[in-house]
Amino acid sequence: MIKEIVIAGGCFWGMEAFYSQMDGVLDVVSGYANSNIDNPSYSEVKKHLTTSVEAIKIFYDSSIVNLQLIFSYLFKIIDVTAIDHQGGDYGHQYRSGIYYWEEKEKVIALSMIQELQSNYKDKIAIEVLPLKNFFLAEDYHQDYLFKNPNGYCHVNLLQLEEKHKKVEKNALFKEVIMNLQALLDGSLPQVTNLANACALLKEKIPYFSWVGFYLLGEQYLYLGPFQGKPACLKIDFNKGVCGESFSKKETIIVHDVHACSHHIACDSETNSEIVVPMLNKNDEIIGVLDVDSYRLGAFDNDDRNGLETIVSILKEVLH
Ligand code: SME
Repeated sequence: MIKEIVIAGGCFWGMEAFYSQMDGVLDVVSGYANSNIDNPSYSEVKKHLTTSVEAIKIFYDSSIVNLQLIFSYLFKIIDVTAIDHQGGDYGHQYRSGIYYWEEKEKVIALSMIQELQSNYKDKIAIEVLPLKNFFLAEDYHQDYLFKNPNGYCHVNLLQLEEKHKKVEKNALFKEVIMNLQALLDGSLPQVTNLANACALLKEKIPYFSWVGFYLLGEQYLYLGPFQGKPACLKIDFNKGVCGESFSKKETIIVHDVHACSHHIACDSETNSEIVVPMLNKNDEIIGVLDVDSYRLGAFDNDDRNGLETIVSILKEVLH
């Protein structure tokens, strides 16, 4: 689900740049929140003619990122006890805060701030208030540090941990493909090669929750080597997303499995799926590669291209 939260931590340039790097964050915009006048301008805010706070609105996919993570980074990247001040900026518009729509967001913020307080002598100066309004800042403030990479930034952008960064899919697939080519050995049994292939994919690609093969048997597609939770043992040739991919001999991407009537659910936490048909050396269909993700809409053309390349490499060791 796409959700929004407005937070403030000093100059919005650095705040926008920091959260834009986060995985699961779809967009971040800079603006003025809780203003007493409509559409305040930067110069009015700067002259303290308004009650606005420089803030950012974060649009995030709640299946990937949650408020706890967003708030815990806020506590890390700003001076949480500074009043009306961050970095080189002073003034009421540079106060820090969390501005919520829903009561449950307030509860999360307040309980995290209470816990944080125990690490500080001075009072935490992050205000937690309902969001009264949010007005977009002028165009030149949007993506400011992207447009001006040497611009002023009070936030250390490197504080975002690797595991929370947006995924560079092409780079990930390139690495998997290189490793796979080194691992495969056509003189070994098929199951041996498939076992390592799915282990490699599950190990290297963080948004894959389940990776495995369903292989052609006499009456069904049967579960082959896989990584992840135990899954259904057999699938009819024309049932499920796997059966569809197998019978049509084409890659199927399901953005939301809950909206796909023929999807067969094995793990209730799964939100999206991609299935790629597999051929052997003789171009005969022998099964499918099935990948699930807990993320909604996790799979796109990069996954299609990456997985189809992997299947074409596997073809050489499949009889
Ligand atoms: N969802 C699949 C069944 C297999 S599990 O995802 C591991 C399908 O609809 O075919």
